[in-house]
Amino acid sequence: MKRIPEPFRIKMVENIRMTTAAEREVALEEAGYNPFLLPSDMVYIDLLTDSGTGSMSDRQWAGMMMGDEAYAGSRNYYHLESKVKELIGYEYTIPTHQGRGAEQILFPALIANKKAKGAAEKPIFISNFHFDTTAAHVELNGACAINIVTPKAFDTTTYYDWKGNFDLDALKNTIKEHGADNIVAIITTVTCNSTGGQPVSLANMKAVYDIAKQHDIPVVIDSARFCENAWFIKQREKGYENKSIKEIVKEMYQYGDMLTMSAKKDPMVNIGGLCCFRDDEALFNEVRIRCVPMEGFVTYGGLAGRDMAALAIGLEEGMDEDFLSYRINQVKYLGEKLREAGIPVQYPIGGHAVFVDAKLLLPHIPSDQFPAHALNNELYLEAGIRSVEIGSLLLGRDPQTGQQKPSPMELMRLAIPRRVYTNDHMDYIVEAFIALKQRATQIKGLTFTYEPPVLRHFVSRLKPIDNDK
Ligand code: F0G
Repeated sequence: MKRIPEPFRIKMVENIRMTTAAEREVALEEAGYNPFLLPSDMVYIDLLTDSGTGSMSDRQWAGMMMGDEAYAGSRNYYHLESKVKELIGYEYTIPTHQGRGAEQILFPALIANKKAKGAAEKPIFISNFHFDTTAAHVELNGACAINIVTPKAFDTTTYYDWKGNFDLDALKNTIKEHGADNIVAIITTVTCNSTGGQPVSLANMKAVYDIAKQHDIPVVIDSARFCENAWFIKQREKGYENKSIKEIVKEMYQYGDMLTMSAKKDPMVNIGGLCCFRDDEALFNEVRIRCVPMEGFVTYGGLAGRDMAALAIGLEEGMDEDFLSYRINQVKYLGEKLREAGIPVQYPIGGHAVFVDAKLLLPHIPSDQFPAHALNNELYLEAGIRSVEIGSLLLGRDPQTGQQKPSPMELMRLAIPRRVYTNDHMDYIVEAFIALKQRATQIKGLTFTYEPPVLRHFVSRLKPIDNDK
């Protein structure tokens, strides 16, 4: 596979320490066999998330020196607002401390609006796939979150260009079944994190928007990885090969009424988010009011002026075509090398991460013994690499019945931070997997020693199941 070299050179380095196998064994046991509980000093390559872990550029750091820390009316807010207008085409901007900050101020306003119209007895949000905090904010507000991504996404072995797409028939049927009056909003998540950083096509975004408009349902674009989504559209969607990423991004946002954004991903800031509206001034004003007690005054929303400066610059850098080619091809480089080594991965490779199919790699470990989590732990023990489970452990139990919710997939996510690791690091990860594969049949499942009632994957403690006893 052709390697695309970095379109940057390295001006500052952060040393990372390799640990010994014996050190890692002690650290993992102390962390209750849950890599979330490891001190990061004990991690050599950290692939837990691509969120807030990117390297800022010299331009972003220079921007930070120009922060205007006025409580109200910071010039960095006005600059950010003008960049959103220019790049995304949305009129109204609220900064938030991160993506979930936007979710917490927007969703109650959307539900209240619907209720004011005498509707939403059973409030429902529909998405291709709600991210966990997105689903949590839907549920915290007494609503229900329904995912209707294409079933093709769940077959990791078969190529499909658009594994983030909505299943349009299922969307129409779900609206019919629950009644349009109960659907508070449709959330189009680009790219679709939960199915493997998989893109949504413009044709699908448009079809979803048309269906929503027929029923007077607002569309929210969950925008954490909007630049990566645009890049896939340019590569894969007919008629877009000669359009610029900027043109594609503008078009994507035509198929939404508002956005929530975790700016910790594509815009490459360590903290920050956005909640923006295309033209609905009344809703913008309602959400702004909620912003004050929850996030902060309306022109800073939980961020320092300097953070907004770095975010405005990052929005543009994240859309740079040379950067995106390098970025997505680095993730592909890792994914393809793992495939060559016989490791089953979600295929094609997504934008921000490689997702290993642990059900296929460790068929001897049942779902309720968390095969993908077992694989995380082994990868850490083998090579000091930290990753995250996206499967039964994350999904948790049905709050009504207390039963484990059935997870369609058992995935291990290797999320690649932006502009942080080199391809030598990628090769090192592949070598670790080759060693793991050789002893795959000996890897053991896990059981809880402590299981919290909600969001259990963050703080639960586990132990390997000893099948010999
Ligand atoms: N939406 C999507 C699609 C996300 O991936 C995330 C975060 C959020 C919303 C929430 O944003 O973290 O800034 O509050 N995803 C991270 C991850 C945490 O590791 O995938 P946030």
